[in-house]
Amino acid sequence: MFSLESQPQAYTEKHEKMLEKHSSIVVEMVKNLSSKKFEQLGKGNVGEVMSAGKSHKVCLKFVSPETVSEDVLANSLKREADLQDKIHSLNIEGVKVPKPYWTMSMESEEGKIIQVFAMETINGASIHDVFNNEGVDLPDNFNLQEFISKLSNFVREINERNIYHKDLHYGNVMVDFETGDPVVIDFGKATETFASENPYRDQVLPNGEVRYQRDETWVREIGENLGAYLTNKKK
Ligand SMILES: Nc1ncnc2c1ncn2[C@@H]1O[C@H](COP(=O)(O)OP(=O)(O)OP(=O)(O)O)[C@@H](O)[C@H]1O
Ligand SMILES: [Mg+2]
Repeated sequence: MFSLESQPQAYTEKHEKMLEKHSSIVVEMVKNLSSKKFEQLGKGNVGEVMSAGKSHKVCLKFVSPETVSEDVLANSLKREADLQDKIHSLNIEGVKVPKPYWTMSMESEEGKIIQVFAMETINGASIHDVFNNEGVDLPDNFNLQEFISKLSNFVREINERNIYHKDLHYGNVMVDFETGDPVVIDFGKATETFASENPYRDQVLPNGEVRYQRDETWVREIGENLGAYLTNKKK
């Protein structure tokens, strides 16, 4: 029913075993993606993130490239996972990046490609969900100044290594419920580009629409809006 489009790849030997174990879950999930059978952790413009089991330790991001418009899809899920692996390994102080476990790509009988990426589940919420979802809030130990300074440092560190996230919107920055620290997710539009080559060169489209906002601009905006959110809450 599903055949492998390319060899699955695990990031460590330990995760190879995990990949074997997960293969049947993945097929089951693909068949039931829109049903309520599996818990959805979130959905963006590109993919859908599902919990891989009751323990909530592993989650799976699914992308069907054909169903995503070209202006939204930048990296293949494999490329996204490779960049996430690289940034995760930098171990930048104060900011978490979900640990990548494995990726695979499948083709259905009808020839539909489905890419899957397994990673660590974050116990937290995106800033978007904090702002928009009732019952989702910042943890008690949340410190705005520390949060923004950590996020700002993270952006500086990756940019210094010629990596640009390029899509640090409110849905791609999460707050860890335990530590109150930022978590950066979704490297689907990230690039490795020398600053001299202008990593944001696609910033303004011919129709004038702004597509890529600078990483540090996102951080400043997130800081301002979190500040306003906290002030409103006190009232
Ligand atoms: N590792 C994770 N742990 C917990 N929740 C996650 C994780 N990864 C993603 N999510 C949730 O799923 C949502 C969608 O994931 P993601 O941002 O990767 O999808 P996307 O379609 O690429 O997004 P975009 O619209 O930014 O392109 C996130 O906003 C977040 O709420
Ligand atoms: Mg996203």
